[in-house]
Amino acid sequence: MNMKNFILKGDICFSRSKEELSCVEQGYLVCTDGICRGVFREIPQAYAGLSVQNWEHAMILPGLYDLHVHAPQYAFAGTGMDLELLKWLETRTFPEEERYADPEYARKAYGLFARKLKESATVRACIFGTIHREATQILMEELEKTGLKTMVGKVSMDRNASAGLLEPGPFAAARSVCQWLDGVSGKYENVKPVVTPRFVPACTEELLGELGKICEERKLPVQSHLSENPSEIAWVKELCPWAESYAEVYEHFGLLGMPEAPAVMAHCVYSGESENEKKLLRENPVYIAHCPQSNTDLSSGIAPVRRYLEEGMLVGLGTDIAGGHKMSVFQTMAEAIQVSKLRWRLADDSLAPLRTEETFYLGTKGGGSFFGKVGSFEPGYELDAVIIDEERLSTPARLSMKERLERIIYLSEDRDVVGKYVAGEKIF
Ligand code: GUN
Ligand code: FE
Repeated sequence: MNMKNFILKGDICFSRSKEELSCVEQGYLVCTDGICRGVFREIPQAYAGLSVQNWEHAMILPGLYDLHVHAPQYAFAGTGMDLELLKWLETRTFPEEERYADPEYARKAYGLFARKLKESATVRACIFGTIHREATQILMEELEKTGLKTMVGKVSMDRNASAGLLEPGPFAAARSVCQWLDGVSGKYENVKPVVTPRFVPACTEELLGELGKICEERKLPVQSHLSENPSEIAWVKELCPWAESYAEVYEHFGLLGMPEAPAVMAHCVYSGESENEKKLLRENPVYIAHCPQSNTDLSSGIAPVRRYLEEGMLVGLGTDIAGGHKMSVFQTMAEAIQVSKLRWRLADDSLAPLRTEETFYLGTKGGGSFFGKVGSFEPGYELDAVIIDEERLSTPARLSMKERLERIIYLSEDRDVVGKYVAGEKIF
């Protein structure tokens, strides 16, 4: 029996666009060969033979997509949250990431990270490792076992880091990426590599150039950080005075993605302040990973997400563990709304706060499109789905489907995720 042919029956919600939420009470979600064939009020004749799983007191949603998360930082998430970015990197992050030189430590820490990700509502994620090849391969092994679809990067850095995280020069650092890529090539079904310069302050121009060549030659995507914090941006100006914007440094070295392999740039809190940077983000296949919890925890600022959407940029959500403290994209959706309201109230009342439809879209279909045709239940999409049990959220109030979804976004926890499918494959 093909396990990827089935029907899920229950209350179903998904995004068609950033404005349009589609909700069907007691609908039938049909999956054949791992592909969604649509949501129906009655089972179409053509699918009459498929097995039907009935979910009550639950909501069936597309899975969630985390465009930016640091696996090695899960081990210290929730600590050091009274610091700003650069101090936090120096005093908390780099010392912890140094520990991944030890494969035994990496196995323990990455096993816990993979388990947490598997239990969450996240179905696909774009993940940073550390500079260490062996540890990054261990991370890939642990993730492969979860069945989730992930992109993993061995981090590159050859300046402005602690001694234990400095690779010995740009060419050795680039060679290390190639060795890692050759070592993992074809090994995993679910985990794919992504080229990962940490950010401009930690990579010499020679290294950025070499990484751009690797992306081009191997047709690989890239992930990094962009315009997160004012001191970071000033530092990039000092390091690369020739560039009109921070994004131009990545663009100059071929690190803003290509059509077959887009880029993810985390944060972009201040990208709206530079016409040059906005133009580059519009004209290149770049996903902005909006990470509101991290931007609050590290007092980075609030990205003008509505403006980015209006201007046609690609935007998804990221938890940015451990800049953010919780590895929940539902929580990220809630906080995207919260910070957009504060931004509107305190800084710029010309930009309306985000609406539920919009943030749900960002965490599903919007960010999901980085991984392919996923994140919706429209026909032809790969079937990623999560089942959220609503027992714990039960209330005597009469709620609409949208209100139930809002409560799931704001109140649900990993323990409420009782079923999960990725590309039609049952995870649990
Ligand atoms: N910029 C460079 N490295 C990091 C990191 O690990 N986390 C965050 N939030 N920003 C960064
Ligand atoms: Fe980050």
